[in-house]
Amino acid sequence: MRLPLSLCTALLVVTSTQSYAETVKVKSPDGKLVVTVSDDANFPSYQVSLDGKPVINTSRLGLAFKAQGEFSQGFSIKDSQQSSVDSTWQQPWGEAKNIRDNYQKLTVNFGHDNQKFDVTFKVYNEGIGFQYHVPKQANMKGNVDITNEFTEFSIANADKAQSWWIPARGWNRYEYVYENTPAFKAAHVHTPFTLKTEQGVHISIHEAALTDYAGMTLNQRRPGTFKADLTPWSDGILVKKQAGFTTPWRTIQIGRKAVDLVNSNIILNLNEPNKLGDVSWVKPGKYVGIWWGMHLGENTWGSGDKHGATTSEAKRYMDFAAQNGFDGVLVEGWNIGWDGSWYENGDVFNFAKAYDDFDFKAVTDYGKSKGVRLIGHHETSGSVTNYRNQMDAAFDLYKKHGVTQVKTGYVADGGQIKRVDENGVVRHEWHDGQFMVNEYLHSVQQAAKRGISINTHEPVKDTGLRRTYPNWIAREGARGQEFNAWGTPPNPPEHVTNLIFTRMLSGPMDFTPGIFDLGFNGIGDATVNRPQTTLAKQLALYVVLYSPIQMAADLPRNYKKRPAAMQFIKDVPTDWQTSIAVDGEVGDFAVIARQQRDSNDWFLGAVTDEEARQLTVKLDFLAVGKTYEAQIYRDGKDADWVSKPYEMVIETKKVTNKDSLNLPLATSGGVAIRFKAL
Ligand code: NOJ
Ligand code: CA
Repeated sequence: MRLPLSLCTALLVVTSTQSYAETVKVKSPDGKLVVTVSDDANFPSYQVSLDGKPVINTSRLGLAFKAQGEFSQGFSIKDSQQSSVDSTWQQPWGEAKNIRDNYQKLTVNFGHDNQKFDVTFKVYNEGIGFQYHVPKQANMKGNVDITNEFTEFSIANADKAQSWWIPARGWNRYEYVYENTPAFKAAHVHTPFTLKTEQGVHISIHEAALTDYAGMTLNQRRPGTFKADLTPWSDGILVKKQAGFTTPWRTIQIGRKAVDLVNSNIILNLNEPNKLGDVSWVKPGKYVGIWWGMHLGENTWGSGDKHGATTSEAKRYMDFAAQNGFDGVLVEGWNIGWDGSWYENGDVFNFAKAYDDFDFKAVTDYGKSKGVRLIGHHETSGSVTNYRNQMDAAFDLYKKHGVTQVKTGYVADGGQIKRVDENGVVRHEWHDGQFMVNEYLHSVQQAAKRGISINTHEPVKDTGLRRTYPNWIAREGARGQEFNAWGTPPNPPEHVTNLIFTRMLSGPMDFTPGIFDLGFNGIGDATVNRPQTTLAKQLALYVVLYSPIQMAADLPRNYKKRPAAMQFIKDVPTDWQTSIAVDGEVGDFAVIARQQRDSNDWFLGAVTDEEARQLTVKLDFLAVGKTYEAQIYRDGKDADWVSKPYEMVIETKKVTNKDSLNLPLATSGGVAIRFKAL
């Protein structure tokens, strides 16, 4: 006999097999999104509907353990509890200052014989999150090895859905060109995984608060049913826990329009509040750096004639930064270890010793005299034990010299992170397995102790941890600008319009926008390596790709040639009061407006894929009754990314929130606008 349910919304239904089964429903605050949790298929499952129509069909829940077996088949609902929350919290920095957290919560207790686990759902108007909690219990004490996670996402009418994705468990981590295919062709993918149904419902499957657990990829088993596929340890175990644990949140953002995905705060809301206390030392900002020259091949990271990170070059960049209002100068290649093929030789990096032509103290002192900070760099080439062994000394050195931001790097093929275990045995791990999930966070915590913020390249994907650890300011985790220098192929014209509705849903990206010399391999040939965009689109990136730190990635000489366009980079902030994705379609175009933090000024960015288009944008986001000067940087009449990428019109107009703007976008073009409150 089952225990009675404590819920008034609980139903007792009779299944076709005549056995009793439980079904519990929970609705979003607006009542439009409904999650139904059930055990009537003889295993725990959930379903999701929007506006009365299914979005996620019956999908399995559960975990398997090495010693304790499967927690799924035969488990039934024993009890459940509901509650609701409507609160608002503040971000110390971010794409918005105030974040509303409004959901209905349901915890369902599953049991079978003397085994038990809970699943907690949080149901928002714009999607859901759920997580497992496995309490300590008989036969489960001490260490617990997870060998399978049964979580499924079974897309309703998947045969007619489209999807946008990058492959999982590949050698190049998250750095792939996005695919747009029918959903059934997405075999094994990373999250965020974006889908659009025939009815136009947009779905993004991802996870939130990924700590001390393996990253979740999605494997399409039966057509339309995507199963959690956790990235394993080198010994094959998926996750190693202690009894009495909770998993990250599995998230499904659901929108009636593409921009609803972007406007949702579910990922942040499902993370725990700031654990670092006063984080006023974490500073958003803009930076330049000794960087693009290496990617173009003009400079080298390693020593020799072309060494980029010299004392004099760093001072030259600091002068340029000070003159143009940048607060940081990234210097890559200052420390010993880059000679030879550095990406295969991570064990020789020394994080505290400079090359002879780089005087660390002189450079940091010079920066102080100019009001500009050195931004530190730690490339590990995936040799994480070598990094761990030096980490304290490395961060101490930076702290001593006033470095408050460090870019880290983990260039290594997927599955080739090298660690030496406690017995001295070399193991190779994935960037998104549990070992590395913990390793990345460890570096962020060590940095936090010294007032240092971290920008991780070759990271594990973002899952909103910046809320809990606000010094984790940005990550790469997708193809960035660097691919335009040397990638095969370079990022295609639709890359950014894909990123906005996929990668960017996970959190800030250090894309490194603002390349002004678009012709370093010539103009007019669509096949060469170069940014496949117009100049106006490079400016728009500062608005459409959110990051609290934005690089002006090009060489100073290229900015000096185009001071008028440069003005936008000087003016655009990186910290926002509020952000609104106004319009867009996945992979086609996007229009995003953001209000500067603690200011009346607004900025707008719009980007398109390979198609030129004419957009009409209502300015109803501007404050009522105020007049603004719109400073518009847009593609010129004849602009196109292949042969006329520099054709740009800069014009000003007086506007109010009653106006609309007609914005012409060239092929792979864009618009950047500053609305200065008058
Ligand atoms: C890859 C990073 O994405 C890039 O920005 C950096 O310059 C190189 N690794 C070297 O660390
Ligand atoms: Ca990279």
